Amino acid sequence: MARRKKIYEGKAKILYEGPEPGTLVQYFKDDATAFNAEKKDVIEGKGVLNNRLSEYFMTGLNNIGVPTHFIKRINMREQLVRAVEIIPLEVVVRNVAAGSISKRLGIDEGTPLPRPIVEFYYKDDALGDPMVTEEHIIAFGWAAQQDLDDIVALALRVNDFLSGIMMGVGIKLIDFKIEIGRIWDGDYMRLVVADEISPDSCRLWDVQTGQKLDKDVFRRDLGNLADAYTEVARRLGVLPQNGAPLGKPTLIN
Ligand SMILES: Nc1ncnc2c1ncn2[C@@H]1O[C@H](COP(=O)(O)OP(=O)(O)OP(=O)(O)O)[C@@H](O)[C@H]1O
Ligand SMILES: [Mg+2]
Repeated sequence: MARRKKIYEGKAKILYEGPEPGTLVQYFKDDATAFNAEKKDVIEGKGVLNNRLSEYFMTGLNNIGVPTHFIKRINMREQLVRAVEIIPLEVVVRNVAAGSISKRLGIDEGTPLPRPIVEFYYKDDALGDPMVTEEHIIAFGWAAQQDLDDIVALALRVNDFLSGIMMGVGIKLIDFKIEIGRIWDGDYMRLVVADEISPDSCRLWDVQTGQKLDKDVFRRDLGNLADAYTEVARRLGVLPQNGAPLGKPTLIN
C-alpha cells in the first residue's frame, strides 16, 4: 500500500492527505505539551480519547447547524475532515476567570465573568501566540470585520452548546479555544469550526468538587491526565463504564 502523504505534523496531531480532494485525515497523537512546548510528555491513550471526544462535540455541533470540518471518525486515532484554510487565530471564550486572564488582570481563578468574553490570539508559536484585538486582525488582513462578527457568533454558539452538554454531566465549562477555517465553494466562502474540541483545549471543572478534568492536570501536575479525560468521556457516554470505547458515541441519552 502506498504511504499516505503527510501534510503537517503539529504538537498534538498529524494531518495526512485525505482519500478525496478537499479532505484530510487528522491523526491524534498521545503527545502532551504545555507552555509553548517547554513541558512535554507522552500520555498513553490521550489521542484515542481526544479523537472520540472531538468527534462527539463536532457531531453535536453539526447536528444543531453549527458548521464544522468534521466528516467522520475512521478509527481509534483518526478522523476524516474537510481541508480548510485555517484563520491564524486562536479564538478563546471564557465564562469563568482562569489561566491567563486571571494572571494578566489579577482576577481570582474561579470568579464568574459577567458575560462570556471572546478573545483572539495570533497563532504564532515563535511569538508565543500573543493576544490581539479586532483592530490588529483587520489591519493585518487575517480576517475582515464581517468574518470577525461571524466568528464571534459561531464561538458563542459553540459556548452555549458545550456549556449545556457539560452542565448535563456535572461539569462546568470554564473556557475553551477553537480554530476557525474557511471553505471555498467557488467564490462563496463559509466559516467552519476546525481543528479539535477536546479537554486539551477546554477548562472543565467538576461542578461539585471543583476538580479539574482538563489539560491543567498536566500543566500543573495535578494527577493523571488520561484518568481525567477518561472521566469526561465516561460521563458523556462516549465510553462505557468499563472504559472500552463504544462503537458509536451516543449523542443524547
Ligand atoms: N480542517 C483542517 N484543515 C487544515 N488544517 C487544519 C484543519 N484542522 C486543523 N488544522 C491545523 O492542523 C494542525 C493540527 O496540529 P496540532 O494541533 O498538533 O498543531 P499545533 O502543534 O497545535 O500547532 P499549530 O496549531 O500552532 O499549527 C494545526 O496547525 C491546525 O491549525
Ligand atoms: Mg493545536
